[in-house]
Amino acid sequence: MITPSPARRRLTRAPFLDAVAGRTPTRTPVWFMRQAGRSLPEYREIRAGVGMLESCFRPDLLTEITLQPVRRHDVDAAILFSDIVVPLKAAGVGVDIVPGRGPVMDHPVRTRADVDALPVLEEPVAEVGEGISGILDGLRDDQVLIGFAGAPFTLASYLVEGGPSKNHRHTKALMHTEPETWHALMERLVPTVTAFLSGQIAAGVDAVQLFDSWAGYLSEYDYREHVLPYSRRIFEAVAGAEIPRIHFGVTTGELLADMAQAGPEVVGVDWRVPLDRAAERIFRAAGPKVLQGNLDPALLFAGPDVVRAEVERIRAAARRAVDEGYATGHIFNLGHGVLPETPAEAVTEAVRIVHETD
Ligand code: CP3
Repeated sequence: MITPSPARRRLTRAPFLDAVAGRTPTRTPVWFMRQAGRSLPEYREIRAGVGMLESCFRPDLLTEITLQPVRRHDVDAAILFSDIVVPLKAAGVGVDIVPGRGPVMDHPVRTRADVDALPVLEEPVAEVGEGISGILDGLRDDQVLIGFAGAPFTLASYLVEGGPSKNHRHTKALMHTEPETWHALMERLVPTVTAFLSGQIAAGVDAVQLFDSWAGYLSEYDYREHVLPYSRRIFEAVAGAEIPRIHFGVTTGELLADMAQAGPEVVGVDWRVPLDRAAERIFRAAGPKVLQGNLDPALLFAGPDVVRAEVERIRAAARRAVDEGYATGHIFNLGHGVLPETPAEAVTEAVRIVHETD
């Protein structure tokens, strides 16, 4: 059983936490997925000669890289610098992150024997916990730290495909031809994801986000039958920590209602669906939630006038959702991660615009 962590800071003036609790924040909280990473020259410099996964197991590096965008952009939340495959690597799975491609497995997981041999993470990842302590020391008390994990489906997709996939065909074939093997794989991933999150919670993160990045490739039927029960178990497992739980996936407009039923307080929305329409879908399935999103990351290349107009449009949609009772708050974010080529100055400017238009 996870209980509230003694390491958690008692924050009383963080806009992120105010927005989640339905209070009026002093300014609109904003953070961006992939705010740490290649858009920052200071990131490219510190990562020179160090492998991506290696950097995730070096507490000094993960502390510094997590704090870089907070210092530069004045965002209201830090997101832990790590990767969704870190718990797999820590459990002993053969995996590497190939630059320009993403996570690649030594051996794809395709049979019942492969599933039964898949290692399970039984303990928190110590290096990550150590890095989190360093991050918390470097944050102000109005800035939160968000921990995260990949949801079982998105992890399973990398495991079954053996790497990034455009159509997830091996994964979907496994679901339908060998449902028992599929369910056994998801059963094995739940404790690994839970252990990764509980280690972060014990170390003191202020919120957690479960990324089901590729869930949008699924039909509603497949999502409900093969994915939702396992994501729900993860949200239930961490409920006792009493910190905000966020759920997000890309192209999930048609799945928002189901993803909300997995149990998060906050639902991330990609840029394809207006926030007020997203809120209505979520509300009808799961009651009012907090919305997170949803500026198109490509528009960070379009200049400040376009960003200002979009920010205003998004904030107006969020306000409508709250006024109509379909949502209880809004955390500003992109609809997916910062693109690696984005000029760092454009990110800083976007954060300033969100804060300014309050
Ligand atoms: O700032 C942040 O958002 C925190 C760090 C973070 C990373 N990965 C760092 C990273 C987070 C939250 C993730 C999660 C992650 N990793 C997801 C879910 C979020 C999403 O984007 O949907 C997924 C699907 C992955 C898998 C993964 N890891 C991909 C697709 C890639 C990109 C491959 C590439 O080179 O284009 C990675 C590698 C990765 N993870 C990088 C970073 C900064 C780039 C590697 C590098 O800098 O060398």
